[in-house]
Amino acid sequence: MKEKLQKIKDEAIKKIESSNDLGKLNEARVAILGKKGELTAISKSMKELLPQDRPAFGQLINEARGEIERKLEVAKAALEAKELEMRLKREVIDVTLPAKRNKLGHRHPNTIALEEVERIFVGMGYEVVEGPEVELDYYNFEALNIPANHPAKDEQDTFYINDDILLRTQTSPVQVREMEKGKLPIRMIAPGRVFRSDEVDATHSPSFHQIEGLVIDKRITFADLKGTLEEFVRELFGKDTKVKFRPHHFPFTEPSAEVDMTCFKCGGSGCRFCKGSGWIEILGCGMVHPRVLKMSGIDPEEYSGFAFGVGLERIALLKYEIDDMRLLYENDDRFLKQF
Ligand code: DAH
Repeated sequence: MKEKLQKIKDEAIKKIESSNDLGKLNEARVAILGKKGELTAISKSMKELLPQDRPAFGQLINEARGEIERKLEVAKAALEAKELEMRLKREVIDVTLPAKRNKLGHRHPNTIALEEVERIFVGMGYEVVEGPEVELDYYNFEALNIPANHPAKDEQDTFYINDDILLRTQTSPVQVREMEKGKLPIRMIAPGRVFRSDEVDATHSPSFHQIEGLVIDKRITFADLKGTLEEFVRELFGKDTKVKFRPHHFPFTEPSAEVDMTCFKCGGSGCRFCKGSGWIEILGCGMVHPRVLKMSGIDPEEYSGFAFGVGLERIALLKYEIDDMRLLYENDDRFLKQF
């Protein structure tokens, strides 16, 4: 019996020491100490011994078990350390590997066009200001000389929050907000999003962008307006561009005009782009109506000024020869990548 126990112990230790991974070590543990393990079997066979021999043998079994358990413990710790070391080696980061390419976006054509417009006006000493998109009816219409029953309100139907609050249909209310501050003179542009309840098509969208311009000072005349806007258009579309001022009506300016520029594609001889006329409409403008000045607390006897409004999408479409406004809003990467 004693020899058998010694043999079991020796073989167990051999098995433990030759286990080269945690799985094998566990198998060894079960084979020795498990319910049907060798050591368990020999403990059960103790009843074959004479009663007086049993305690001494029991002692031996316990010693063997203790030794085996210690060996198991040591082997387990060693294998775990080895496995951790291997895992660290395996998971090491190879910093020399080429990185995955990050897809970098870039500016939207609208943004590029806006930055160009801002560059031109800031260069002429204008400040860039902003106003709220959710606007009071008063600023969007009333203070711009568009009273409640004015037909101009019809053309600019919008989304109403309630009777007094709406989504602004134009950036012109920012003029009023600036004038009300009472700091004169004013030279500002106000870019921003505007809204109209229009159906989506190639040239319309319920949400688009405008850039408003306003200059208020002493002795500002229509000549200043013409010179400024001519310079703006030539900076934007090229030095050879000519402009023409066509009489028009806006409630908040008097006199008012629309500005056409010679077609940058054909130079004015007429092509598909300008529908054969040689001219392209680019913005609306005029001398600020005395009533508008007065409503904002400015004395029209002392001060005068001009204003203009230009569609940002219109500039982007013309500049990049895009023939459908919807492309600007769809965020199709294949389209946007081209700018
Ligand atoms: N707010 C006008 C529009 O949306 C554009 C405009 C025209 C603005 C003439 C002006 C202006 O400041 O003087 O149609």
